[in-house]
Amino acid sequence: MKLKDKTIIVTGAAGGLGRAFSLRFAEEGANVVCADVKDAAETVALITDAGGSALSVSVDITGAASVEAMCKAAADAYGGIDGLVNNAAIYAGLTMEPFHEIKESDWDKVMAVNAKGTWLCCKYVYPYLIKRGGGSIVNIASASILEGNPFFAHYTASKGAVWALTRSVSRVVGEQGIRCNSITPGYTMTDASKGLAGDPESFQKNYDYSIQTRAIHRAMEAGDVVGAALFLLSDDSAFVTGQNLNVDGGCINY
Ligand SMILES: NC(=O)c1ccc[n+]([C@@H]2O[C@H](COP(=O)([O-])OP(=O)(O)OC[C@H]3O[C@@H](n4cnc5c(N)ncnc54)[C@H](O)[C@@H]3O)[C@@H](O)[C@H]2O)c1
Repeated sequence: MKLKDKTIIVTGAAGGLGRAFSLRFAEEGANVVCADVKDAAETVALITDAGGSALSVSVDITGAASVEAMCKAAADAYGGIDGLVNNAAIYAGLTMEPFHEIKESDWDKVMAVNAKGTWLCCKYVYPYLIKRGGGSIVNIASASILEGNPFFAHYTASKGAVWALTRSVSRVVGEQGIRCNSITPGYTMTDASKGLAGDPESFQKNYDYSIQTRAIHRAMEAGDVVGAALFLLSDDSAFVTGQNLNVDGGCINY
């Protein structure tokens, strides 16, 4: 087991990729703190029913007090924190529109959750990782930052910020034996992705395009990203920090 007795916070764990991460980390022996602005009880039930250890915590990552309370709840329950996967984001419900049509309020909301929220989680988990004498932070960015996606400029910019933040954080936390890396997943078949395109015809177009542009010609599922996160959390990547791992079936070469 790669995460035996480690306590890992996964934000955005109510469904989608966050749930897939949580289930796998629990299988690998972790106590998983499933944190979300939505109810993550179903994810926790899936873990505990399978004999794993998990806790549901309500958090709004845009608020410092809420993020502090999430970290405290994790440490109170399990005696400390060893890792964080910053997966929560505004992704579901985004409108496919070019940059000049994005409403200012939507820009601010996406930045507040995806960029500021990720920063706040790094900031407030840091003292707990120091107390533990080491740890790992994995930030979920998006391959859209490498593609030049004509839509979702606010989302893409926010995920670019996550990538840049990762590199800055890694330079500071390395002193305490803590690592910080990011993952850029490609277009993955979560419920959020399925809902984005709107009508079935547009969805099919996106789906087919994503498959064509890959070296591995098939749809990408949440499970395809899990191994990369596990690697970056575990001691297998003990000397890897400040890096981005692109997981997209060979679509982007950079
Ligand atoms: N699905 C894809 O194709 C894809 C591709 C690249 C990157 N990603 C990234 O992967 C992650 C998960 O994506 P998903 O497809 O599962 O989408 P999703 O929308 O289902 O997951 C995001 C989760 O974050 C939570 N969340 C939103 N705002 C929050 C807040 N303020 N505080 C706490 N939680 C909040 C949501 O409730 C949700 O459970 C996101 O960071 C997304 O940007 C997804």
